[in-house]
Amino acid sequence: MKKILIVGAGGQIGSELVPFLRSIYGPESVVATDVRECKSLSEDGPFEVLDALNPTNMASVVARYHIVTIFNLVALLSAVGERNPQMAWGVNMGALMNALEVGRQHHCAVFTPSSIGAFGPTSPKDQTPQDTIMQPTTIYGICKYTGEMLSNYYHRKYGLDTRSIRFPGIISNKTLPGGGTTDYAVEIFYEAIRNGRYTCAVPSDVYMDMLYMPDALRAVVELMEADPAKLQHRNSFNIASMSFTPEILAAEVRRHIPTFEMEYDIDPVKEEISRSWPNSLDDSCARQEWGWSPKWGLEAMVEDMLATLRKKLQK
Ligand code: SER
Repeated sequence: MKKILIVGAGGQIGSELVPFLRSIYGPESVVATDVRECKSLSEDGPFEVLDALNPTNMASVVARYHIVTIFNLVALLSAVGERNPQMAWGVNMGALMNALEVGRQHHCAVFTPSSIGAFGPTSPKDQTPQDTIMQPTTIYGICKYTGEMLSNYYHRKYGLDTRSIRFPGIISNKTLPGGGTTDYAVEIFYEAIRNGRYTCAVPSDVYMDMLYMPDALRAVVELMEADPAKLQHRNSFNIASMSFTPEILAAEVRRHIPTFEMEYDIDPVKEEISRSWPNSLDDSCARQEWGWSPKWGLEAMVEDMLATLRKKLQK
């Protein structure tokens, strides 16, 4: 039986990854942790309050539960990171270093998400290759890029089984993302259902890659289950499923809610960040090395998001 530790489990990814992993490996096999109590995660499996910046506490949870795989999901996202870069570096790198070190000492595999934010304005914009120029200009991207290099380093130097995915904006309907540049692609659904209108902070014409949560969850499991001999990349993998602008997303929402209106109140920080990121990623290495293939596209995602949120918001 696999014993899995999720660090930072209360966030957008963790709140769905924990139940998904528990449904596959059994509730007792997945230990969820977060810096604060999370009732929804402690009801159907083990939960511990854990400050990811405390290596002693992380090591003690790993030893106590005989953990073999650590998922480190702790991160301040891109827009909020720009408001406090020093804190973003401290939290994002501190949690990752602890996960890698505890993983090294306790012989665990370590998964950590990277991001489209690891690329910067000098990277090729369209079909951005797996291996290319990476000069991120946000503190979030600098942390992600450094994290990729560290994951690679720990694999080469210590043989640590590090694996990672460069996530695009993740669209989900359980827990809101907090402080990212791609958050508009989640918020739009809540506002469309509640108020029939949304004010978008990202310019109407900026393309960014996005991914629906069910594909994100499946990607994580498929990568972690992949034959290690086939994995050439230990820094992080590009994956992709859809790329759109706010205007394209609004038009798709309007197919279901014809009166939906989108206004723009551009946040200069989000504008600069979004324009510095790729329009779309080339995910051929993920396809070749571990069989990645997306199932969700824009139309099906929008239909499912609206149906799920209408039930949740009782509208
Ligand atoms: N969703 C993240 C952000 O916008 C990107 O990985 O910060």
